[in-house]
Order: sequence, then C-alpha cells, then structure tokens
Amino acid sequence: MVHAEVEAQRFSFEAFTRHPFFTEVNRWIVDRVIGPGRERIVDLGCGPGAVTKLILERLDPAARVIGIDPSESALARARSAIRSRAVEFMQGSAEWLSRLVSSVDAVVFLNAIHLVRDKAQVIAEIRKALHPGGVFAFNTTFFNGAYVEGTTGFWRRWVVHAVQVLRERGLDIQRDAKAAARQFLSPDEYADLCVQAGFERPKVELVRIEMTPESLEDIGHFSLFIEGALPGVPLAAGADALKEGLRRALEDTGFTKVPRNWLECVATAV
Ligand SMILES: C[S@@+](CC[C@H](N)C(=O)[O-])C[C@H]1O[C@@H](n2cnc3c(N)ncnc32)[C@H](O)[C@@H]1O
Repeated sequence: MVHAEVEAQRFSFEAFTRHPFFTEVNRWIVDRVIGPGRERIVDLGCGPGAVTKLILERLDPAARVIGIDPSESALARARSAIRSRAVEFMQGSAEWLSRLVSSVDAVVFLNAIHLVRDKAQVIAEIRKALHPGGVFAFNTTFFNGAYVEGTTGFWRRWVVHAVQVLRERGLDIQRDAKAAARQFLSPDEYADLCVQAGFERPKVELVRIEMTPESLEDIGHFSLFIEGALPGVPLAAGADALKEGLRRALEDTGFTKVPRNWLECVATAV
C-alpha cells in the first residue's frame, strides 16, 4: 500500500462514527428520506460506511444503494464492513456525480458538503442526477451557526492551544494553505444554493447534540479534520497537537461536554 493510503487508514473517520450522537444526527436524515418508493439511493461521500449501514436498516427489499467516495481507503473499509447485495460501492466525486448515476430517487450527502470547494456546482450536479421529485439530503456541523452560544471560546482555544503545542515542538501551520473546509456557509446560504440549483426552497433545521471529550479526541484524529484545523502539518504531529490542545482547552474552559449544532436539510427537486 502506498504511504498516503496507509496514512488515510491510520487517521480514519471510523472511530468518531461510533459515538451515539453521530448516529442520532444521521438517523434524523435517513428516517426522513429512506422508505417506500425510494428505490435508487446514492450515499454520496459514504466514507467507511457508517451512514450506508443506517440506510440499509430502513431500506425496502427492492431498493438499491450506491455508495460513492473519492477515497479508495475509505471504500476498502466500507466494502469489508458491509456485505449486502443491495449495496454497490464505487470511486467517484460529487463534482461529476451526474456522469456516474442518473434518475435516482435520493442523494444522501452526510457530513461532507463542507469539504466541497464549489458548493453551487456540486449541488447543481446532484440536481442533475435526480429525477423531478427526487430528494437531496445533507447535514454538516461545519457551518455558520454550528457553535452554540457560550462555546465559541472553547473551539477557538482548542486550535490556539494546538498551534502553541506545535510551536513548542518546533512546527507551525501553513497559513496560506487554509482549507476549503473552513469556509462556513449559513443555513440561508445553503437554502439559496438549493433553490438556484433547481430545488424547492428547503427548510433547514438545527439539531443540538453534546460532544464528549472522547468524541472530540476522535474527530481530532481524523485526517480531513486535522488538515482543516492545522493546514500543512503532518497528520501524526497534528493529531498529537490536537489531543494536547484539547486537554488544555477543556481545562481552561471547564467544559465536561461541549454542545454543538448540526445543520440538517432535505430538498426536493423541482
Ligand atoms: C467526514 S466523512 C463522512 C462519511 C460518511 N458520509 C459519514 O457521515 O459517516 C467525509 C467523506 O466525504 C468524502 N469526500 C470529500 N470530498 C468529496 C467530494 N468532493 N465528493 C464526494 N465525497 C467527498 C471524503 O472522502 C470522506 O469519506
């Protein structure tokens, strides 16, 4: 296996997906979207398959799921975790979704839309892959409004402390390498993009959950989170700095759990 793939496996999203609140925020969408009449479903950005499993729990016997992700290492994990004839996994990206599938009933894109650079282009691609009346469902906790009142200082301190830890160890972040993941949109901006792409104006809802220190440590060990929080830093050094930075931020602020909002949205294609 090449070095990048080994790194991606070591810093996988999987540990974070085992926390109960993560199932809760994803089931919110799955329960609204999967069911009778929805037979061709795309799990876009399926990653190691946590959402695919939830979809399978609610799937009609005749229905089929296509899990799509750009990461081969995440797909390998999904393929070994899920052995169902109702599911097929393929490598691909949201930017050219309509070249991979067409006339589907639902596109579920969970915990990934914030990673996309050109969100308008991707939402238009998703619209092209759906038939009229089909649904596009997405959620994210990286948006303008994710921080619950009184917690902004905690999130800021976590990164400030992590950068401080890196400096103590002779490393630094690359300020010009700021990731697209950090560009937070507001719920209204997401709704506007859906309308522009050919969806009815969706209702965007917020679900508030409590993040435990263990779950924060797990997200701080995920490759894409490390790249977003500490651009340009090697993953192992970044994960260690985020772990120590988290300890210091929790100590500073006295939080034992940190509340956070998830944005949840289901849009219907016109
Ligand atoms: C945080 S994980 C979420 C995985 C899964 N949807 C879940 O909620 O458990 C984000 C996933 O989005 C994928 N991803 C990143 N950019 C993408 C893109 N442009 N199109 C599709 N998937 C993308 C990543 O490879 C990663 O597997």
